[in-house]
Amino acid sequence: MAAPTSRLLPRALRASQKCSFRPQNTYLLQCLDDASDQGEPGHDVKYTTDLMPHLKRDSRFGELTKEHIDFFKQTLVDDNAIIDGVTKDASNDLEPFNRDWMKKFRGRTKVVLKPKNVDEVSKILKYCNDNMLAVVPQGGNSGLVGGSVPVFDEVVINLTRMNKIRSFDEVSGILVVDAGVIMENADNFLKEHGHVYPLDLGAKGSAQVGGNVAANAGGLRFLRYGSLHGNVLGIEAVLPDGTIMDDLSKLRKNNTGYDLKQLFIGAEGTIGIITGVSIVCPQQSKAVNVAYFGLESYEKVQQAFKEAKRQLGEVLSAFELMDAESQKFVHKKTEKKRPLEGDYPFYCLIETSGSNGEHDNEKLEKFLEHVMGEEIVADGVVAQDDTQIADLWAWREGITEAIGHVGGTYKYDLSIPLKDLYQLVEDTRARLESKGLIGDDKPARGVVGFGHMGDGNIHLNIPVPKYVKEVEEALEPWVYEWIQKKNGSISAEHGLGVAKKNFIQYSRNETMVKLMKQIKQLYDPKGIMMPYKYV
Ligand code: FAD
Ligand code: MLT
Ligand code: ZN
Repeated sequence: MAAPTSRLLPRALRASQKCSFRPQNTYLLQCLDDASDQGEPGHDVKYTTDLMPHLKRDSRFGELTKEHIDFFKQTLVDDNAIIDGVTKDASNDLEPFNRDWMKKFRGRTKVVLKPKNVDEVSKILKYCNDNMLAVVPQGGNSGLVGGSVPVFDEVVINLTRMNKIRSFDEVSGILVVDAGVIMENADNFLKEHGHVYPLDLGAKGSAQVGGNVAANAGGLRFLRYGSLHGNVLGIEAVLPDGTIMDDLSKLRKNNTGYDLKQLFIGAEGTIGIITGVSIVCPQQSKAVNVAYFGLESYEKVQQAFKEAKRQLGEVLSAFELMDAESQKFVHKKTEKKRPLEGDYPFYCLIETSGSNGEHDNEKLEKFLEHVMGEEIVADGVVAQDDTQIADLWAWREGITEAIGHVGGTYKYDLSIPLKDLYQLVEDTRARLESKGLIGDDKPARGVVGFGHMGDGNIHLNIPVPKYVKEVEEALEPWVYEWIQKKNGSISAEHGLGVAKKNFIQYSRNETMVKLMKQIKQLYDPKGIMMPYKYV
């Protein structure tokens, strides 16, 4: 084990890298542009139906005609509100809305509609329902389970143009926005008012508030601010038959009957389209510290987490885990100087946020002295300013993008009891190695583990230049069976989409699935929303 050094103390931080590559607004669009370069290896996106030949188009759904397009044009008025691939060739314009961020799923929609208010959403959804046209709601299209893109020729209803901040109350911290507001824009707006958006994630430059809520996204602030099930106070949504459900409450407490908005949080667009969200936002912390550690074993990671909770308690705002392989991918992609000199099997990123810098620093230094003294942590650095904070975060937030450069990723987003959290990564590595599937000239380029340690949520990623059956068959349903044995969840935060639809039974029993199907039937009796996905 490497001897603890004083490098952990703030003043000993070596000059930090200027490598902030936190995705900005244009980030996902750039990726989609890359993906459309069919000539480049790894960028040839197959249709979802080639990947999943068991999926057959439901013949109950109508096919789009000029008459339908005329109705949409009359209703949406603005020329920019519709991409029409029915009466003309619009393949290039439609392509970014047909393929997902992972370059794994690709549909064949012929029309994208971009309403600008709830009444327009209501009119077009009612029309689709009356005419049996299947629908996919779409936000920033940053989802990781293929939910946000069509499978066949479903109508895409994209919320991008619904991007107004409706109100903000500085006393209560309650923000009301259109569903299409990009989360980074919401966060920037809130910061001007001394608050922050209660959710943070790597795709913040593209993901929308409505998409966050529909996916029940977790992200990097979950440990501190909790689930959207707690933070979302109200929802305005349009049901498939066009009914506007106005439940845009701004109340913290409201015990008057069933809390129906909860059904829309994590429904992934299956029971209606979210058009407005009311959400309670915390005060911005005055003092933020970030430390990055190297650790010799998963046992030590658990000890560090336990100590962080014990000693940092109320100021601990993130505890993220990255394995050695994840950091190698980020390094290869960015070529930035690594935060630590030595190599360790595990790295953790700890963030504290509080209102009293002096108090927080004192606590952090005490904690660092302890974990170094007890040799729980082998080495580490602490950021000295906002740039260094962003630089250290980039080693965690940049993993998804760095791995994505291999071509594609078999992605598993899992909740597992903490003591077994990393065992799955090791077992997967052993399994793929025994089958001769990992290596520079093999179908899989590695097995990567990282995630939200503080939430018991690991991301198991297998980067591949091409999605191939051999790898998929080695992983599925084996990963899900592994999870079931540990009573874990096959989807901690990314949802089900089309990718996990057939595996829900590994985490939910028959009765639960039956009840879910009844809810779907009640809200969407014709089944036009998100066919082929979810339950
Ligand atoms: P989309 O991807 O467009 O849609 C997601 C789902 O919601 C789809 O099923 C879609 O049909 C539905 N939907 C979208 N908008 C609406 C609406 N208004 N009404 C009804 N249904 C709707 N996720 C996490 O949980 N934690 C992370 O840390 C995280 N990090 C990420 C990092 C990167 C680099 C990337 C690419 C993705 C990450 N994600 C993460 C996944 C994704 O960003 C989130 O799920 C995000 O909330 C999706 O928002 P979106 O607007 O892009 O939704
Ligand atoms: C993350 O935690 O970085 C996200 O959930 C994205 C991912 O899993 O790739
Ligand atoms: Zn995550």
